[in-house]
Amino acid sequence: MTEPSPTSSPRNPHYTLPNDWDFAKERLALLGAAFDPESIALAQRLGVGAGWRCLDAGAGGGSFARWLCSVTLPGGRVLAVDADARHLTDLPDRGGEVAQIELVADELPEGAFDFVHTRFVLLHIAKRDIVLERLVGALAPGGVLVLEEGDGLGVLDEMSGAFGDVWRAFARSTENAGANQAWARSLPRHLESLGLVDVRAEAGIPMFRGGSPMARMWNLTWIQVHETLVAHGVSHKVIAAARAELEDEHRWFYAPPTVRAWGRAPL
Ligand SMILES: C[S@@+](CC[C@H](N)C(=O)[O-])C[C@H]1O[C@@H](n2cnc3c(N)ncnc32)[C@H](O)[C@@H]1O
Repeated sequence: MTEPSPTSSPRNPHYTLPNDWDFAKERLALLGAAFDPESIALAQRLGVGAGWRCLDAGAGGGSFARWLCSVTLPGGRVLAVDADARHLTDLPDRGGEVAQIELVADELPEGAFDFVHTRFVLLHIAKRDIVLERLVGALAPGGVLVLEEGDGLGVLDEMSGAFGDVWRAFARSTENAGANQAWARSLPRHLESLGLVDVRAEAGIPMFRGGSPMARMWNLTWIQVHETLVAHGVSHKVIAAARAELEDEHRWFYAPPTVRAWGRAPL
């Protein structure tokens, strides 16, 4: 692989990892490879299948939306939306729909979906409460909302090595841009206060080996945000050390937890 250059001038200043970066498609594919198995397992537990009408909000590289197409169509509906939908162009060939939608400013179809999903989206959006209400409003009676969002939850301060140093600076940089790395833990309460029933939640700490898709995803992430990390006090040397750690197949890492919270719209 040619060494990619870092993102220098993100088009959307409010999102730290814009999709127009040269290697964003590859980074999003690695994100999907790392997280799809658990997302799919949860969707299957919740019964997602033939005929379900689904919305993936902030669909990114589209891997989860592609899985939704494979299990719900024909007969169902898959709408994948993103503020930058450039990596979703193949979905119509699979029977899915794509819309370029900015989740704070733009409307979503109301009362239209049996399954509404986000993964690593709302934590990045400063006005996330508006988006959460809109996602709840998109549910048909009985429909399920699933949010999978990152949260520092007790581990950020303890992460060791250069990887930990870089992660903490990355977390600070995302928070300066409007993200909240301590919000997802309150999701169950938010879902209940918005009227959802059967609310459940769990949090899992991803543990992964150097060289794995998750490690390669973080390696590309550190390249994409290189200048931002430097601006947040991390030296080039520490970033290089973190990247070398991530390539070492003898090392194991953990990342901040993924909080998964879900609930159902009343019938
Ligand atoms: C970390 S990526 C996650 C992509 C995908 N959900 C996944 O897990 O594979 C976050 C995605 O959310 C999108 N996004 C961020 N802010 C958004 C907003 N305000 N409205 C719509 N999409 C947004 C980004 O463009 C990006 O594709």
